[in-house]
Amino acid sequence: MKKYKIALIKGDGIGPEIVDEAVKVLDAVASCCDFDFAYEEVLMGGCAYDITGDPLPQETITTSLNSDAVLFGAIGGEKWDSLPREKRPESGLLRFRKELGVYANLRPAVVYDELVNASSLKPEIIKSVDIMVVRELIGGIYFGEPKGRDENKGWNTMVYTRSEIERIAHQAFKIAQKRDKRVCSIDKANVLDVSQLWRDVVTEVSAEYPDVELTHMYVDNAAMQLVLNPKQFDVMLTGNIFGDILSDEASMLCGSIGLLPSASIGDKIGVYEPIHGSAPDIAGQGIANPIATIASASMMLKYALHEEEAANKIDRAIKRALSEGYRTKDLAQYDAKEVCSTSEIGSIIANYAAKCKH
Ligand code: IPM
Ligand code: MG
Repeated sequence: MKKYKIALIKGDGIGPEIVDEAVKVLDAVASCCDFDFAYEEVLMGGCAYDITGDPLPQETITTSLNSDAVLFGAIGGEKWDSLPREKRPESGLLRFRKELGVYANLRPAVVYDELVNASSLKPEIIKSVDIMVVRELIGGIYFGEPKGRDENKGWNTMVYTRSEIERIAHQAFKIAQKRDKRVCSIDKANVLDVSQLWRDVVTEVSAEYPDVELTHMYVDNAAMQLVLNPKQFDVMLTGNIFGDILSDEASMLCGSIGLLPSASIGDKIGVYEPIHGSAPDIAGQGIANPIATIASASMMLKYALHEEEAANKIDRAIKRALSEGYRTKDLAQYDAKEVCSTSEIGSIIANYAAKCKH
């Protein structure tokens, strides 16, 4: 029997609770498929800093690189906010992404029919929304030099090289080919030189994908269009910070940020993680929504392990739990038949995933 090696990084806040549920669902699926998982837990974030003095111990990188995929919860919290920048949990995550070379962050924002009333937008605006944000993840202003601060000045630099833009653009076009064949590239080319290069290079790359329609949009307009008429988007191709912002906005089309998964991929090992943070305010209460992490585990099965059928089982199980009215607290006001704890909804989804037919 195949045994996949999964590095588990539970992290801080609600991280451990939600990763535990994703593991429960993965094991349930494995029980009716011809593979199994071997998990190895490693530390990152505030918990890693507390134990080792480093938010990203070397062992975490080594173990992750020796696995088939990384399943990640969330990191950070007020407790570590006053540390020097390089000791902060977020710095550990950014360094981790860089070490693993995961330059493409895929963030699907799909509105479940069952939750069409859960968004702050009108149902007719968001019904059937199916967007894939393809966010560049290891470049741009998050990493550009020079950066720094003194008493009176703080500075960061937004840099993109031609090769960084080319590789993320290829990803976006390839993904679009399997979807509705439309890429909207987001930039601020009316103001930023880096964005002008971005636009030119994306346009050049698009010549290799004549079957995909390319449009360009300024990021401020994109933020507006996302709430005005989100159905106009298929694939949104963005740089690092624009994608960070727009993917949080896109999550609200879906009702709760607790629903949105992501896959970070590159040339080596991929990282699968919810798009939300560690929510320290609700940690340990059993009210966090684990669906984003469970759906990230499904993306891991699909993109890293090529176990498409097993991934579909999880996706169908999530939908079934929602259509039968099971809701965690964040979605309790929306057609809930029963409000569940984190572990209850995890068990329900695990149960359905194990039963779903091939
Ligand atoms: C995300 C998060 C991270 C980011 C933070 C925690 C560093 O907001 O994954 O979207 O900005 O990339
Ligand atoms: Mg973010």
